[in-house]
Amino acid sequence: MASGDKEKEIMNRFFEARRQWLDGLAPFIRPGRIIDLGCGGGFVIEFYLRHFPDSIMFGIENLLDRLQRASVRNNPNVHLVNGDIVSMPFRKNAFDTVSFIYCLHVIFSLQGRDAVMTAFDHAFNILKENGRLIIQDFHKPEPQQVRLVLKTDMARTKFIAFTDQFRPRKISYTMDGDHIVTDIANAIDFLAAYRAKSEDDWHEFMIETPFFLTESEIFDALTQIGFTIEDVKRIPPPVPADLDGLDDIEFDFELGRKWIQVIASKTI
Ligand SMILES: C[S@@+](CC[C@H](N)C(=O)[O-])C[C@H]1O[C@@H](n2cnc3c(N)ncnc32)[C@H](O)[C@@H]1O
Repeated sequence: MASGDKEKEIMNRFFEARRQWLDGLAPFIRPGRIIDLGCGGGFVIEFYLRHFPDSIMFGIENLLDRLQRASVRNNPNVHLVNGDIVSMPFRKNAFDTVSFIYCLHVIFSLQGRDAVMTAFDHAFNILKENGRLIIQDFHKPEPQQVRLVLKTDMARTKFIAFTDQFRPRKISYTMDGDHIVTDIANAIDFLAAYRAKSEDDWHEFMIETPFFLTESEIFDALTQIGFTIEDVKRIPPPVPADLDGLDDIEFDFELGRKWIQVIASKTI
């Protein structure tokens, strides 16, 4: 299969899997007033409309062009707002369901860890009593030191470039010849970037990580704010990890970016 076709096929499988993951959320949604934070082009709002056509839907997105292209923008039950979740003012106790779908890792990458905590605070404040918080996203693996063997000059040069240029977090590591020891999240982020097909692609990997918080950090943050965790599910990756292009590097840990679904309630 040509590489363009393979990428298209992977994207199709990814969206089909995400549609199924969203459908699995339906029993947890409290209908009424529903808000999707970081709604992008409205993929999640389409799911809400399919299952809860009588609810009023809100979407917040900071990139205007995504809202302008949103398929749901002319639906009378949908209100799309261009704004930053982290800094915009919200009305308290206004929503029955609040969701962050595939969005918190972007907030972490571009605005940092404190911004994720602020976003959780906002979610708590805008929910009505007994309202539901829904999260689906990647999560960071629990800390684990792993070993990479960089077998070529190119692999070594790219690793050093990665440690210099990666923005979402500081990359700590030890290097002994061509052996590197570092946290598993750093190693997976490097291996993903190593396979970048162009400069632009590499740059994308330098500014965005899928790994925002570990599962236990998510739980701690939510419970500290006052949420009660109702349900947690680990979601299997929609496509197996692709090992193409990694012949220059030896490693013995599982690749792949793990997803998690967390359902929490605002019980006071
Ligand atoms: C990966 S997309 C996911 C979009 C949608 N939730 C979905 O599942 O298809 C994440 C979206 O969150 C938006 N986003 C990230 N940080 C944001 C912020 N601070 N305020 C508003 N939107 C934000 C991004 O612009 C992007 O459109």
